[in-house]
Amino acid sequence: MSKSGPDFDRIAVSYRMLEYLSFGRDLERARFSLLPHLKDCRRILVLGEGDGRCLEQLVSVTPEAEIDCLDLSPKMLALAQGRLGNSAVSIHFRQADILTTNLPSRHYDAVITCFFLDCFDPEQVHHIVTRVTASLQPGALWLWADFALPAKGPARWRAKLWIAGLYAFFHWQTGLKNRSLPPSELLLKNAGFQPKTHFDFQVGLLRCVFFRSDLSMLLPAT
Ligand SMILES: C[S@@+](CC[C@H](N)C(=O)[O-])C[C@H]1O[C@@H](n2cnc3c(N)ncnc32)[C@H](O)[C@@H]1O
Repeated sequence: MSKSGPDFDRIAVSYRMLEYLSFGRDLERARFSLLPHLKDCRRILVLGEGDGRCLEQLVSVTPEAEIDCLDLSPKMLALAQGRLGNSAVSIHFRQADILTTNLPSRHYDAVITCFFLDCFDPEQVHHIVTRVTASLQPGALWLWADFALPAKGPARWRAKLWIAGLYAFFHWQTGLKNRSLPPSELLLKNAGFQPKTHFDFQVGLLRCVFFRSDLSMLLPAT
């Protein structure tokens, strides 16, 4: 395992219960609500999957797809693998650091990042978006879910408190270095991904967006 990355092994087993106690089923709603948009995808990259709940739903939507599931935490991967153990679907589980691992060129037609890009600082998110974009086909889909800061009002203050508390918790339990939300949505838009649909939960604290890459952005200039 990367010595510099966070260690989610310690909370892998309790992750689901901690999530339910904090937000009920709303993180699952954020993860699952846009998955039907991926029903025609055939090569899907899932980054920082965690314990396999999103993967399980994905497989029910796209049983024909080849899925690469990448996570730094061996325990999270083992949980995900256990959950999908008897499934006939083609899933390749990889323990790797997204900041350094090699990805195939122009391969995937969709990528999923749920509560993953918020583990990184803005520079790292930019780096990840650039690397992942190079592994996508033109017109590929990006399904993104993360914590978010509502624009104003009590919802914004509530979100600030939750986000500060969550970063403190993950820093304590996993050694996560990043301590604030990166502008991932903006970085994705700047990289040529157009937001198509979104949902907000928990008065804007949780947000998911379905993006499609600009069809022309990956084609060689003529
Ligand atoms: C906050 S959890 C999110 C898990 C799940 N996707 C969800 O929706 O709750 C972040 C996940 O990303 C993984 N992760 C963190 N840094 C990573 C990195 N540099 N490379 C690959 N996976 C990483 C962790 O092991 C963990 O499983």
